[in-house]
Amino acid sequence: MKLFILLLALLGPGAAQHDPHAKHGRTAIVHLFEWRWEDVAVECERFLAPNGYAGVQISPPHENILLTSPWRPWWERYQPISFNLCSRSGTESELRDMITRCNNVGVNIYVDAVINHMCGSSGGEGSHSVCGSWFSAPKKDFPTVPFSHWDFNDHKCRTGSGNIENYGDAYQVRDCRLVGLLDLALEKDYVRGKVAEYMNKLIDMGVAGFRVDACKHMWPGDLAAVLGRLHNLNTDWFSGGSRPFIYQEARLLILLAWVIDLGGEPIMAREYFHLGRVTEFKYGAKLGTIFRKWNGEKLSYTKSWGEGWGFMPDGNALVFVDNHDNQRGHGAGGAAIVTFWDPRLHKMAVAFMLAHPYGVARVMSSFRWDRHFVNGKDQNDWVGPPSFDNGTTKPVPINPDETCGDGWVCEHRWRQIKNMAIFRNVVNGQPLGNWWDNQSNQVAFGRGNRGFIVFNNDDWDLDVTLNTSMPGGTYCDVISGQKDGGRCTGKQINVGDDGRAHFKISNRDEDPFVAVHAESKL
Ligand SMILES: *[C@@H]1O[C@H](CO)[C@@H](O)[C@H](O)[C@H]1NC(C)=O
Ligand SMILES: *[C@@H]1O[C@H](CO)[C@@H](O)[C@H](O)[C@H]1NC(C)=O
Ligand SMILES: *[C@@H]1O[C@H](CO)[C@@H](O)[C@H](O)[C@H]1NC(C)=O
Repeated sequence: MKLFILLLALLGPGAAQHDPHAKHGRTAIVHLFEWRWEDVAVECERFLAPNGYAGVQISPPHENILLTSPWRPWWERYQPISFNLCSRSGTESELRDMITRCNNVGVNIYVDAVINHMCGSSGGEGSHSVCGSWFSAPKKDFPTVPFSHWDFNDHKCRTGSGNIENYGDAYQVRDCRLVGLLDLALEKDYVRGKVAEYMNKLIDMGVAGFRVDACKHMWPGDLAAVLGRLHNLNTDWFSGGSRPFIYQEARLLILLAWVIDLGGEPIMAREYFHLGRVTEFKYGAKLGTIFRKWNGEKLSYTKSWGEGWGFMPDGNALVFVDNHDNQRGHGAGGAAIVTFWDPRLHKMAVAFMLAHPYGVARVMSSFRWDRHFVNGKDQNDWVGPPSFDNGTTKPVPINPDETCGDGWVCEHRWRQIKNMAIFRNVVNGQPLGNWWDNQSNQVAFGRGNRGFIVFNNDDWDLDVTLNTSMPGGTYCDVISGQKDGGRCTGKQINVGDDGRAHFKISNRDEDPFVAVHAESKL
């Protein structure tokens, strides 16, 4: 108990901002990238709540610049021009309706908050914003907030271009323009107040927290001052005194981790640990390398997965296999990242993440675009969501087999991924145990006596009897199928009274892995 109090004292009041406030024992977050609010609302009701997803990360809800060259890129939403809640995803009333409906079925909403900057310095002047608000990038004038030229950081930046030129210089990284984006002066009380007002409006509407964009580019002290002004969560849905869940995007971690090894790390993830969780970019990059078997990596090396791999402390990590940046070659991770374009590997990597206890896990839900590589770079990495010719985002149609149409990938609906989100809930709180590996790419592990998973990423078959620690009986594999009434639609696994079970997985199976859990028992 003393230790507990001491820990609380060390972590401070910010520790509360590490809790996603998931309901009903749910655990996984899904990023419904670029979805319309109307579609998110109905997805919460018809799919996410029934399948036990804890929450949704939504795209930025603020008004942004309208970019036409290239035509409506996804990144226009990362260029705010006002804090009006009006975007490609919908209006303020549609946003409010979505938050209410998702909360009413126990699915939390986490907002992607862009608070480091406004639009690009070359964004021009006029009303070319998604909801028609006037602004001037050259004059740094955003009257709808209002922000004017003295609310930006340029006087602090010491580079010739005004942009970040050297990512090894912590002052440039925080005080200069990230790829030309007008950098807000978060040291100013007025600016902090306006940003907090925007976030508080969303909290009062019922959101559970924020993914904070570009945190590496804000001073931890400025961020602390903004986050310190945030309201507690809305007590219509959350218990009194709940702090918003904060997870901070810090996409330079891999690059900087290499710098650490070289002894010159300018910005450390741990500078942000007291404020909330931090996105662990090494996780997906390493996992991708392992499942691709690049650099001599083997799945058996994941025996010490987590902090043992030099990742941040468990209580600070937000983990993912891919995200909207690195699935299209932006940010850290490069070609190692496994995305829906490599579905077999993607399903295995996501299943590994969801089966493993480390971190708060986020599943990516993408849209397709026509990739066009020239010299290894995708020329179409900018392409925005499935849209009509007039730029309006298309709704997400659901096919009779539960998959999505019109270019929406909906990885979160794939049977293997959906069932592993349920697996994570069923084994929540159970320790990892009964580890087995063949010193190559066949591994298995359990979570207490609640679940067990076996992977075969070798180029030959797996045929082995393992101790699952699970109660004897017949279980449905939730990868090749699932439990449907009194039968299994896929493989059946028989666990003996001693907890041992025989597993056979061909390397040629559609999905060379098997998972069973307490609720898949016949
Ligand atoms: C854009 O086009 C779609 C499909 O034709 C239509 O339903 C929608 O109302 C249009 N939106 C606007 C803002 O013109
Ligand atoms: C890996 O597993 C297979 C069968 O499960 C076994 O034959 C093989 O010897 C194991 N070890 C290595 C190093 O491949
Ligand atoms: C299976 O593993 C559990 C937990 O490690 C252990 O208590 C049990 O004795 C093992 N059973 C067998 C048959 O080896």
